[in-house]
Amino acid sequence: MHVIRRRGWEIPESQATPEHIYLNRRTLLAGAGALAASALPGLAHAQRVADLPDPSVSLYPVKRNEKYALDRELTPEKIVTNYNNFYEFGFDKDIARAAQALPIRPWTVKLDGMVEKEMTVDIDDLLRRMPLEERLYRMRCVEAWSMAVPWSGFPMAKLVELAKPLSSAKYVRMETFLNRAVAPGQRMPLYPWPYIEGMTVAEAMNDLAFMVTGIYGKPAPKQHGAPLRIVMPWKYGFKSIKSIVRITFTDKRPVGLWEEAQGREYGFWANVNPKVDHPRWSQATEEDIGTGQRRPTLLFNGYGEFVADLYKGLENEPLYM
Ligand code: MTE
Repeated sequence: MHVIRRRGWEIPESQATPEHIYLNRRTLLAGAGALAASALPGLAHAQRVADLPDPSVSLYPVKRNEKYALDRELTPEKIVTNYNNFYEFGFDKDIARAAQALPIRPWTVKLDGMVEKEMTVDIDDLLRRMPLEERLYRMRCVEAWSMAVPWSGFPMAKLVELAKPLSSAKYVRMETFLNRAVAPGQRMPLYPWPYIEGMTVAEAMNDLAFMVTGIYGKPAPKQHGAPLRIVMPWKYGFKSIKSIVRITFTDKRPVGLWEEAQGREYGFWANVNPKVDHPRWSQATEEDIGTGQRRPTLLFNGYGEFVADLYKGLENEPLYM
């Protein structure tokens, strides 16, 4: 397997990880061994299911939507697919192999909360119903690295249409699977699992909000959040929650995993802004993981023409953390 080593420009874990979590990591890793052993029979079954081929492979590649042009080269696939944040499977970027343990069929997504009628949709039914397209997007992580990726999927707005939220619903809360038998990170009790993220209904309806099912003209590999994740390219990457099992419409602002773990550093809005630093590092520039070059960070990651209007009248909110 292609192993990416930590490069000189990368932020040490002590800076990129909420402090109390990184300080406790050693203790936690020791306990994780014992827990893993107790989960072994479940793991063997999960492994057999996880090894099944992805039944959606024939759907790709899909037609590219040319509206979202890039100002830079696409990042090579081999780099992107081996440099991931998916804390369920480990705390560094090298989790691609561990993530293969995740069974992605059968997979259902529950649409509930303030909707006309709650429903549970099967991922393959959803894939058949939704208009799949490819989009080239920049992705900017809060840790000050970036990449440019060809995602396949469908507009989040189409899923909102399917869910039929009530007019009283103002927010969307999204939840990742919870499966301690296959996800070693979820055996770390200090993280408030499962991974949660949220957005306003208005943000979810914005054309840029994209439900991702594929990447580089193929089904998304597990390390990227198969079989269903969201990508909101104007926000820091931690908002782009992976391997979603539940989408809830609500009138209460959802609190994400990072906000709950370290609210002083990670907030609800998390829009990219080069002028608002993270408490522990600058956001003025970012490292392109494809070229290794540093480039200036763009307000809203360069997507202001699509999203700036969403934040009119919200100037008193902490929009950039
Ligand atoms: N979703 C879940 N469930 N778990 C995670 O740890 N990490 C987030 C986001 N979604 C994460 C997640 C972060 S911090 C980033 S930068 C992106 O996923 C990384 O997406 P990628 O690995 O596809 O590049």
